[in-house]
Amino acid sequence: MARGELMKKLLASYGREAEFRTVAEQIILEEEQKNNKVLARSLRKSLDSTTGTPAGAKTLAPLIPFPDAANDFMDRVDIVHNQNDIVLSATNTRVFHGLIKEFKRGEDIRRNGMTVRSKLLFCGPPGCGKTLCAEIFAGELGLPLFVVKLDRIISSYLGETAGNIRKIFEFARKQPCVMFLDEFDALARARDDPSEHNELRRVVNSLLIFIDRMQPKGFLVAATNLDQSLDPAIWRRFDEVVWFDRPDAKMIERYLQMKFRNVDRNFNPLEFADSLEGYSYAEVERICVQAIKASIIDRRKQVRGADFTKAISDERRRRSGLSRLAT
Ligand SMILES: Nc1ncnc2c1ncn2[C@@H]1O[C@H](COP(=O)(O)OP(=O)(O)O)[C@@H](O)[C@H]1O
Ligand SMILES: [Mg+2]
Repeated sequence: MARGELMKKLLASYGREAEFRTVAEQIILEEEQKNNKVLARSLRKSLDSTTGTPAGAKTLAPLIPFPDAANDFMDRVDIVHNQNDIVLSATNTRVFHGLIKEFKRGEDIRRNGMTVRSKLLFCGPPGCGKTLCAEIFAGELGLPLFVVKLDRIISSYLGETAGNIRKIFEFARKQPCVMFLDEFDALARARDDPSEHNELRRVVNSLLIFIDRMQPKGFLVAATNLDQSLDPAIWRRFDEVVWFDRPDAKMIERYLQMKFRNVDRNFNPLEFADSLEGYSYAEVERICVQAIKASIIDRRKQVRGADFTKAISDERRRRSGLSRLAT
């Protein structure tokens, strides 16, 4: 935005703390992007020292209602799953154990002048456990889980977006939690797309700067479906990149074993593992659930092999329909 426009906005925001901060933040970001680092730093110092609302502000009615970031863009999610509900590769299990150990010894590590890995990027196709793993990870750490809807942030009135992002990061800086930024690919796309609104690209850049700067009290986890050609400008901001791939036959076996652990049946589901290769966990789950449901609908005690093969062919049909839609 042109400098003059920002100044006008700044003056017009008098008395409205949140809006004032949003505009001020934008000015600072612009200076940073122009590489005026000294000015940006001193502006930030001044901004950080202005706490509270100016005198008389309460008597001014806000013209633009400012959304409360915590309510509009972030949901607290209950943790209902645990380690026994997820199939993880040996590599990922090792990565997560390492992160948990490091987090628990965080104070000692920081005392020795080092930082604790706390910004994670989860990559992989849909339905392969990014969200589920974030939940279980939070549970293991004993931290609350907050899910941020990035699409809602981006589509919020752009002038306010930087302020909303700032609020969310401020929250994660103070509150020990797992902050989960889902659909992070929407951001990456907005950044690359030449047709995207200039201001939107600025918002994306400011978000990346926030990620760069922040040291969360807990973890910041971003998830993206883009499994290839991830812009290095994005992933280098994260301390760890974790891949969630579609399961191979062995992993599908483990999943089926887990799913049918307490289910009465007259067939061995593991025999189907090979034929399910290429499906995501979410798709295999749908097959299992449909097969089990079929036995309930027929008031049978046992799930039959036929229920399972029928559920597989339904999933195939569904898939082929979807691929037709995509072409
Ligand atoms: N690795 C996994 N182990 C067990 N179940 C999984 C796994 N990945 C996905 N699922 C099942 O699929 C559902 C959707 O997975 P989700 O974590 O939302 O995928 P993503 O976030 O990668 O799109 C989960 O709720 C779970 O039932
Ligand atoms: Mg997800």
